[in-house]
Amino acid sequence: MRLGIVVVAAGSGTRLGASEPKAFVSLRGVTLLEHALTAIARLDEEARVVVVAPSIRLDAARDIVDRVLAPGYGSVVRGGTERQDSVAAGIAALAESGEPIDTVLIHDAARALTPTAVFARVAATVRDTSAGVIPALPMVDTVATTDGGDAITGVADRSRLAVLQTPQGFPFAAYREAIAAAEAGHTDDTSVFAAAGHPVVTVAGDEAALKITTPWDLRRAELIADERALVSAPDGGGRDASATAGPALRTGVGVDVHAYDETAECWLGGLFWPNEPGLAGHSDGDTVSHAICDALLSAAGLGDIGSRFGVDDPRFADARGEVFLTATLELLADAGYRVENVAVQLVAARPRFAPRRVEVEQHLSAILGAPVSVAATTSDGLGFTGRAEGVTAIATALVSCAAADSSAAEPRR
Ligand code: CTP
Ligand code: MG
Repeated sequence: MRLGIVVVAAGSGTRLGASEPKAFVSLRGVTLLEHALTAIARLDEEARVVVVAPSIRLDAARDIVDRVLAPGYGSVVRGGTERQDSVAAGIAALAESGEPIDTVLIHDAARALTPTAVFARVAATVRDTSAGVIPALPMVDTVATTDGGDAITGVADRSRLAVLQTPQGFPFAAYREAIAAAEAGHTDDTSVFAAAGHPVVTVAGDEAALKITTPWDLRRAELIADERALVSAPDGGGRDASATAGPALRTGVGVDVHAYDETAECWLGGLFWPNEPGLAGHSDGDTVSHAICDALLSAAGLGDIGSRFGVDDPRFADARGEVFLTATLELLADAGYRVENVAVQLVAARPRFAPRRVEVEQHLSAILGAPVSVAATTSDGLGFTGRAEGVTAIATALVSCAAADSSAAEPRR
């Protein structure tokens, strides 16, 4: 492994004032340390991780490391009195690991919700520039210098200020030399590196990487975690296991309409209906299955059946409903979603649905691996369904973001 990551978690959290050391305080049912490690475990690059923990929580830290990281990828060492001492302990453990590490990232467990992308960005920039790299955000507040009391002596030019975050990244060998030569009192890793004469550059930080210092910060982090769970995006941006203790639920809706085609076979709900008029369409016209696909795609924010399975795709010419349902399930699984349940209402003069309703439910439930309920009605002679020109189906789906529940904390390598 060429990437080493030191996660400092040995502070007591005086300003947070919780009964636990800060890294072991729960954020929506998951400790800050576990949130931080979960983001690290999602890096594409393999990394050797050293967690620096308080001496009274070494076992608890080991349990978390074992749960989140695969065997051989993480270890725990005892922290020091000051943050700088804890960093030094972590760096020493990395050096002793014998891995050919070229780049080290140093991260505060207190920045529990830092997205995986920030770690990747910092590591890539270290390798590109050989500089120290620090994630930063623009300063939004106006900042003044004072005389140490009430009098303001100057107002800083905000455009020249930045708010610094972690993980801070460095070429490993150069950083080891810098920390060995450093005087005490550095609260920040880049100042250790800069003091040794090395350049330091910034990359984009992230609001979610806020340092949880006070109870108010913890509240803000809870809001970020809730937000991630609710608006989890299919691109992975929001589907962060560190975001929440419980699954994120999303609903979707889908409608499909097909005209009757007396010359075609009738397929509905994935089943063949003998002696019934078929349905016109590029595929087999299975309105029930298509409405379900749209509801599932809608719930997962993955578009719709038309945009996903184009009419020019030969896989779907004359395809059965089952083909679309299975392909839809694959898209959802890739995006980290699991189907919780589906409900469909068919509006049709024909076929008479009631005698086979349970059979359809069982068939569709087996395909989706989740309960599917199907109801049917006529439209009392009204509209195109009433005139028996065609059928319509309306489906709703509930999906959960699989990556957001606690199972996501399992080793992934
Ligand atoms: N840290 C550490 N060892 C120390 C002090 C701090 O590993 N001796 C870690 C903390 O666990 C935290 C990070 O450094 O992840 C940033 O420190 P800070 O936010 O100040 O945390 P605490 O020192 O725990 O909090 P406080 O200053 O309020 O006591
Ligand atoms: Mg501190």
